[in-house]
Order: sequence, then C-alpha cells, then structure tokens
Amino acid sequence: MAYYYRLGNIPPKRHTQFRQPDGSLYKEELVSSKGFSGIYSNLYHIHNPNNVLKIGQPTPYSWEPAKDHGLKQTHLKTAGVATTGKDYLSARKMLMMNNDCMMGICTPEQRKMDFYFKNADGDELIYVHDGEGVMYSQFGKLEVRQGDYIVIPRTTIYRFEFKEEGPLRLLIIESHGPIETVKRYRNEVGQLLEHSPYCERDIRPPGALVTEAEKGEYLVQIKKGGMLHPYTYGHSPLDIVGWDGFLYPYALSIHDFEPITGRIHQPPPVHQTFQAWGFVICSFVPRLFDYHPLAIPAPYNHSNIDSDEVLYYAEGEFMSRKGIDRGSFTIHMGGLPHGPHPGTVEKSIGAKETHELAVMLDTFRPLFVTTQGLEFVDPAYPMSWSE
Ligand SMILES: [Fe+2]
Repeated sequence: MAYYYRLGNIPPKRHTQFRQPDGSLYKEELVSSKGFSGIYSNLYHIHNPNNVLKIGQPTPYSWEPAKDHGLKQTHLKTAGVATTGKDYLSARKMLMMNNDCMMGICTPEQRKMDFYFKNADGDELIYVHDGEGVMYSQFGKLEVRQGDYIVIPRTTIYRFEFKEEGPLRLLIIESHGPIETVKRYRNEVGQLLEHSPYCERDIRPPGALVTEAEKGEYLVQIKKGGMLHPYTYGHSPLDIVGWDGFLYPYALSIHDFEPITGRIHQPPPVHQTFQAWGFVICSFVPRLFDYHPLAIPAPYNHSNIDSDEVLYYAEGEFMSRKGIDRGSFTIHMGGLPHGPHPGTVEKSIGAKETHELAVMLDTFRPLFVTTQGLEFVDPAYPMSWSE
C-alpha cells in the first residue's frame, strides 16, 4: 500500500463497458485484499485471465524448521555462497521461518527468468543486496537496483531480468500478512507524515506498462499451500492495457531512508521501514552517531523478552560485532540477552559516524532456523562473548 496510482488506459467509470479496437470488451479484473475491505486495483486485460491451457502436477515447495537447533545466539555465514540454485525458484533458500514469515537468500545462475512466478501464499519483500535489472509484472516495468526493497503484493504475476554482469544477491522475505508502510508514520488518510524517514517521493511504482497481446504458451509457477502449481496460459500474463488502484508492486531504496539520530543511543524502532503481521523490518543506514558528550555509540545489552531479532549485514563495518561478514545473518533469540562484543563498547566512544548498512527483521513469535539454514551456522558464535 502506497498511494493511488494508474497506468495505461482505463474507462472513466469502473465496471462499465470498455471496448478494444475490434469492438470486443476488455476483461476487467478486480484484485482486492481483505475480501472487499482492503486495498485493491482494477486491471483491464486483452484476454480472459482464466484462459488456462494446462495445469501441471504440483510439486512441494516449502521448508522445515530445525526444531532441535536449540536456544542459542546464531550466526549464519552466507558470504561464501556463489550461487544458490539454477533458476529463481530453485535458488530461493529460506533460512529462517515461523508462521508469520520466512527469510532467505537467492542467487540464481539464470539471471533472466523464462517463466513467470506468482506467490499466492504471501506478500514478498525482496532486498537487492547486489544486482540490477527489471521486474516485469502485470502492473508494468519496474527498474530495480542495489539497495532497493521491492514490495510485491501476493498474486502479482512477475518475472525478473537481471543484468548478466556483476554479482547478484537477493534477500527474500515472504510474509503471511500484508507488508505495509509504518502506521505511526501515516496520517488518517494514509499520507506519510513529516517525521517519517521516507515519503511518497521515495516510493517508485512501475514506470511503464508492458502490454503483450500475442497468444502462445506462457508458464506461471503459482506458489500456494507450500506447493508449486505450474499453470500454462494461452496468452501472456502481461496483457494489461491499463490499471488503477492502491495495490501494486513498488520499490523503495534503502539509500532513500533518512536516519533519525539523537544525543543518546536511539532504539531500533527509529529504523523501522515496514510493518507486517507478527514482524517488522528496519533499515540501519549510514548516519551520524549520538552526540551527547558522554554518549556511547555502541548499543547496550538487550534482553528482548518477546521477540527474535535478525540482522542481515549488507555493507560497512559493524562496530559492535566481531567476525561478521557481508552477507552474515545474526539471530538473537528472545530469552537470552545480547549485546556488543567485548571491547567494542569502549572502542565506539568518540566515533562520529557509521557507514553500516543492514536490514533487520524482528519477529514477535519464535523464529526457527530451517533445516536448510543449518548448513550456514557458525558454531563458534554462541560463545563469542566469552572473555
Ligand atoms: Fe536487540
């Protein structure tokens, strides 16, 4: 949910006759959330969106929590991973999960998808850690680049084309509930307020509509109920001549997030970027450190009694941690205190600024490392505070 937007041609009044050059009607599709009570968009198709040619055999596409991992501070090291799979779907490796969300990485060998994907299980938030390309969807063409968060509402049909040169690395979060801007930063009609760390100008909706009228065979892999359902349609899913509404994918660059700083250490809510059911997403961006004469820039020890905290380290030096690389995840579990590594607190005093870039996911229900995530566990991390 961002703001009202429209692309292409739409009739002046919804649910009225809107005809193609040959006199036939365009096929209207209402894409709505929360039944008819949430945000929605109206799309106008050249072809019938139900024109299915073939429905293939579903295949399992889910992850399992490693419940025997135990209660321990966890570090997943993923920096050394060159690729995580062949195509966009086989390369999506979810490393943590609970009933509200999953979080993982994706570095596919195949940079340009030759099929479409539709996630009917949840909204997606994709952080482009490395890479540049285009996301094609029914809502148009969205240029994406390093540092972008891409918010993709569930059931959006899309495919990525990433550039062949340079590294490619995506952080993927799938959410059972909608991924939204932060409520306390919105006024009563949804406009982002003056004290919000970003505003509508920073939100980039698809820039141009792509309308493909041709018939043919188009594969859409639909994820629903932890299975992939291969659907073949008789036309391109990108057969939209116009749409309008509040529901559409968009990008927000982490580099456009304006940090909130203070005289003394500011808590993580100042970094909050998105909200969802059962978790929040925060962005730690380059900023000036606290400026009280006796300030301690390093964070204090913290006992989070009812959430699990994940940090994904994207760029820069992480002054409160040792042994953390670009591409590391730390999971600090509720029930144990966590805090700066020995020596880092004194060392932080007097520091004026940080160039760190990190994405945080805090869940309100226990988060589990998946069985696939276990292969990235750094066994030394739980004892790394020992002096
Ligand atoms: Fe914390």
